[in-house]
Amino acid sequence: METEGFTHFFNDKTGLKMTGQTFTAHPKIDPKTGNMIAFGYASTGLCTDDCTFYEVTPEGELVHEIWFKVPYYCMMHDFGITEDYAVFNIMPSIGSWERLEKGLPHFGFDTSMPVYLGVLPRREGATGDDIRWFKTSNSFNSHVMNAFQEGSKVHFDIPVAKNNMFPFFPDVNGAPFNGQEAMSYLTRWTVDMASNSDAFESEVQLTQTAGEFPRIDDRFAGQPYRYGWMLEMDYRRPVELKGGSAGGLLMNCLCLIDHQTKTEQHWWCGPVSSLQEPCFIPRAKDAAEGDGWIVQICNRLEEHRSDLLLFDALDIEKGPIATINIPIRMRFGLHGNWADAEDVGL
Ligand SMILES: [Fe+2]
Repeated sequence: METEGFTHFFNDKTGLKMTGQTFTAHPKIDPKTGNMIAFGYASTGLCTDDCTFYEVTPEGELVHEIWFKVPYYCMMHDFGITEDYAVFNIMPSIGSWERLEKGLPHFGFDTSMPVYLGVLPRREGATGDDIRWFKTSNSFNSHVMNAFQEGSKVHFDIPVAKNNMFPFFPDVNGAPFNGQEAMSYLTRWTVDMASNSDAFESEVQLTQTAGEFPRIDDRFAGQPYRYGWMLEMDYRRPVELKGGSAGGLLMNCLCLIDHQTKTEQHWWCGPVSSLQEPCFIPRAKDAAEGDGWIVQICNRLEEHRSDLLLFDALDIEKGPIATINIPIRMRFGLHGNWADAEDVGL
């Protein structure tokens, strides 16, 4: 790998070099191979429909690059992997040079356009022509909880909202932001690679709990899995946020979803606090799924500081088992990740 930056992955053995211009903020690690799986959109420049798929070994060698095109240019923020596929959700937070020349925000939401799910084989020799596009009706969807295969079926779990969740990327026709329709609910999309249709096989809302920023035990990325955690938006609780939440989103609860028992747990951070993304830490490398801790930052808005909270990952309802008082106020971010020191060479 060249040293000038992560956007220049290079394989000494094959000479394969990353040729796209962009790289997602949400790469995944394949738990079976350790490879980093990633993509880029607008890969030949702003507002282009060219995309790239990448697979990079733990040593930083690019072993796979596939170019493909999407049905329309849009904000492609996250994606899913399974053992055999990379799966891309295309939703109409769209952009164009016309918008940029008018001085509009890069992206705007178009309620008239369909949503697509693209399933790209990861196998050696696959090309962009091998991607299959499945189509469904309009919605807003962004971060992905997980994806996995079951026979010829591909399941894709993602919070879905009826309408735009981003007031800062407003409706392209000027419709006012609709907070009620911006509530997202974890939904399982299923497509069947054995079918001859481009329709989704099913779209099942998995919960009545509004939430985003879904996370899993990352050792189960792309695999059948049982547990997911999310930031929950619970407007039934008293709220005195004093303007202090990233993106204007109310994130006042941590939620645990058990897909196997179809049960949930919830923990509320209080009326004058907001939460940042939960992250799972396994108790040990070979611990069972979910056996470990959740770590997340809590913004204490009244006191202008932050706490780092640790939970028993499968018993969040009892509250944090440890609270680390941070003497300063962390900025309002949302994403967070955990890395074992040994995994990052420390
Ligand atoms: Fe993100």
